[in-house]
Formats: sequence, structure tokens, C-alpha cells
Amino acid sequence: MILVTGATGTIGSAVIQHLTSQNVPIRALLRDVKKGSHLSSHSIEVVQGDFLHPDTLDAALQGVEKAFLLSANDARQIEMESNFIDAAKRMGVQHIVKLSVLAADVASPSTFQKWHGEIEKKLEQSGIKWTHLQPNMLMQNVNFYAPTIAESNNFFLCVGDAVVSHVDARDVAAVAAVCLTEPGHESKRYVLTGTEAITFTEVAKILSDAFGKEVSYVNVPPENLKQAMLDAGEAEWFVDAELELFSLWANGIGAIVTNTIAEITHRTPTSFNEFARDLAASDRAKVFSNNSK
Ligand SMILES: NC(=O)c1ccc[n+]([C@@H]2O[C@H](COP(=O)([O-])OP(=O)(O)OC[C@H]3O[C@@H](n4cnc5c(N)ncnc54)[C@H](OP(=O)(O)O)[C@@H]3O)[C@@H](O)[C@H]2O)c1
Repeated sequence: MILVTGATGTIGSAVIQHLTSQNVPIRALLRDVKKGSHLSSHSIEVVQGDFLHPDTLDAALQGVEKAFLLSANDARQIEMESNFIDAAKRMGVQHIVKLSVLAADVASPSTFQKWHGEIEKKLEQSGIKWTHLQPNMLMQNVNFYAPTIAESNNFFLCVGDAVVSHVDARDVAAVAAVCLTEPGHESKRYVLTGTEAITFTEVAKILSDAFGKEVSYVNVPPENLKQAMLDAGEAEWFVDAELELFSLWANGIGAIVTNTIAEITHRTPTSFNEFARDLAASDRAKVFSNNSK
């Protein structure tokens, strides 16, 4: 039995899709089982569980051999994933594939990298077999730019001309599915990137072509971006962590390109052009349009 956490989210839902095509028994852990009504029809067992309520995790992990561990960026992320690792240990789980992040490191100046580094370390010390997936920035993050693109055709960041090898969440999920179903991926740390590193001006050009309107990337000072994110209702700890991440990108950390996705899945990773065309053809496209109001 393979347990998938984060199953309602961007990467976890794609992991479920990849696993369902492989005819393996799957269980999805959901905080709110009502969100999983569509999963039952695909013979996926849905179980209630919450990382912040460890008492729910033991039952969810009964009979589970392998698990995909993903939690949202949350102020309690280390506690959440640690609770899961402790429960997995109690319940005899043999292998956890952990969704981490590029440049995860306990010594990182960036909060999210540091937290993922701490959780990786905890998992490695647990005695459970592990695989760490370290994706670069997801292409799906363009969804966060939708409100300002809809309003003014602009999106705002503070990374200058930095290049980033954005990766499609669906490719990250494909790697996770292989690691959960095939041997040989234990004790591996996989850095997952797209095939090329591009600037955000190039991202804007790709979005312009896909959406058929002129989209621009506007580089702004970090303090302006911080204020805009606070005004949009984001929590201050989260905004500060995001700015630390942007600072890593501005310093070139996201430029790395690896061949790992192709090596593991035997498929060429999705290009930003392909991702943008899929997005423009999807139901989500309307939220990038000022006709969506
Ligand atoms: N975005 C990027 O560019 C990027 C790049 C590299 C790594 N990452 C990492 O990717 C992760 C986020 O992945 P994502 O974008 O797929 O996430 P997402 O779409 O935000 O989904 C988060 C998932 O976590 C679940 N969750 C939240 N709190 C929970 C709890 N207390 N107990 C159980 N489940 C809980 C959510 O379930 P509900 O439906 O119940 O809320 C949801 O399924 C983060 O760890 C981030 O650091 C992101």
C-alpha cells in the first residue's frame, strides 16, 4: 500500500494521477475527506488525517509500506512533517519519498530551505528508507501572478535578470511515482529542474504568446513587493520567507539544470512553452483575464 499526503494539492494530486495508471493500491491522506469524493471512484482509499493531530496518523498508516510526504509551506511545517515521520516509524513504513526543495540545507539563510533541510535530516536519522525530491521553482507558481496579470497584464518580483530552470509539478510527480514503485531510489537526493534556465522577462514573453496578450515582468524593490504581499493579506512570516527565497534566486541559485527527470522517467521534461499552452487551454486561463471579474 502506498500512502500519498498532500493529495489535494498541486504536486500530490499529480502523484495520485501517475500512480493510478500503475495499478498499485493507493491510499490518500486528506484533512477533509469530502475533498476526496472524486478519488474513491478511481479505487483509491481515502483516509482522514492531519499532520497536526498525530493521533490520526497511526490509523492512516496501518499497512502502508511506502509514503509520499508533502506538506504546505506552513509556520509549523517542521512539526507537521516530523509528526508524520514519527508515526511512520511507529507503524513500520519502509520507505518515504519526501517532497523537499532545491538547495535544502539546515544552514541555509532561507527559511524554506532550512526547514526542508531539518526535515530531510530527521527522516534520514529515523531509520526509514528515504528519497528526497528537491524541485526548483514550479512553473505552476505563475498561478500566483494571476490577479495582477488579470488587472494590469503585469507580474511583480524582485529577482532582476536571474535565470531559473522552472520545473513542471507534473514532472516532479512523475519522478515521485517512479521512486514509490520501482527499486533503486533509496538514499538518493534528486535535484529536479526543467531543461533550461530562463529569465522572468522570457517567462512573460511565453505567457504573452500563450494568452494572446502582452504580459510583462516588473522588477521591483523587495520592500515594495513585501508591502504588496502584506496588502494582499499574506502573513508577515510567509512574506519574509518568500523574500529570502527570491534573494536566493536573484543570486543565481535557480540556474542549475539537471537531467534527472529524463533519467528517471525516460521522458523529456515539460518546457515552459508547453506548460503555458496547457494553462491557456485549461479552465484556469480565465483567472488571468480581466473578463474574469
Ligand atoms: N511552489 C514551488 O515553487 C515549490 C518548489 C519546490 C518545493 N516546494 C515545496 O512544495 C510543497 C508544497 O507543494 P504543493 O504546491 O503541491 O502544495 P499545495 O498545493 O499548497 O498543497 C498542500 C497540501 O498539503 C495539505 N496539508 C496542509 N496542511 C495539512 C495538514 N495539517 N495535514 C495534512 N495535510 C495538510 C493540503 O491539504 P488541504 O487540502 O487539506 O489543505 C494540500 O493537499 C512545500 O513543502 C514547498 O516548500 C514548492
